[in-house]
Amino acid sequence: MPEKSQMDNFRVREFRIEDYARVMELWAEGGLPLKPKGRDSRENIARQIKMPNVLFLVAEEGEGGRIIGTVLATHDGRKGWINRLAVDATLRKQGLGARLVREAERRLEALGMDILACLIEDDNAISMAVFEKLGYKKHPEIIYFAKRKYPGV
Ligand SMILES: CC(C)(COP(=O)(O)OP(=O)(O)OC[C@H]1O[C@@H](n2cnc3c(N)ncnc32)[C@H](O)[C@@H]1OP(=O)(O)O)[C@@H](O)C(=O)NCCC(=O)NCCS
Repeated sequence: MPEKSQMDNFRVREFRIEDYARVMELWAEGGLPLKPKGRDSRENIARQIKMPNVLFLVAEEGEGGRIIGTVLATHDGRKGWINRLAVDATLRKQGLGARLVREAERRLEALGMDILACLIEDDNAISMAVFEKLGYKKHPEIIYFAKRKYPGV
């Protein structure tokens, strides 16, 4: 387990397309549902990060080091959304996930988003525990509906 001081030696910066392969690795390792032929393709991510309502942040070790965490913050003008939160498996439970969420929240709140939300798969108990710790309230009465243009989008 790294020392606390090692975990303090990271910085949060915006995602760059050169980070793509490492970020996909982190998401796969974190068990996030990957859509490599859909919204997680390199081309689609490159398109998304150009949008004004998309804030894609990564945490890197030191200055220019390995990427160890991600969070994708978006908004629809009414609500802010926290997506794709992931931390390197060897560095979890040391506060990095919370730091990434707080940074995403700070930036979304600065854009006027007074309500922040996230969608969590119903078998992801850890993520539910983390978001509850961070002040999010569960809404089991809401059922998610989606319409997909093509399978794997
Ligand atoms: C979710 C995830 C990003 C959390 O990152 P992390 O760096 O371990 O989280 P933190 O250390 O900042 O923990 C934040 C809070 O959640 C709690 N927490 C973290 N992991 C926990 C666990 N496994 N069980 C219960 N609580 C947990 C922490 O104790 C902390 O609360 P505290 O400040 O009161 O101690 C990480 O577990 C991960 O990458 N999981 C795989 C990907 C994933 O499922 N992402 C979410 C998709 S919705």
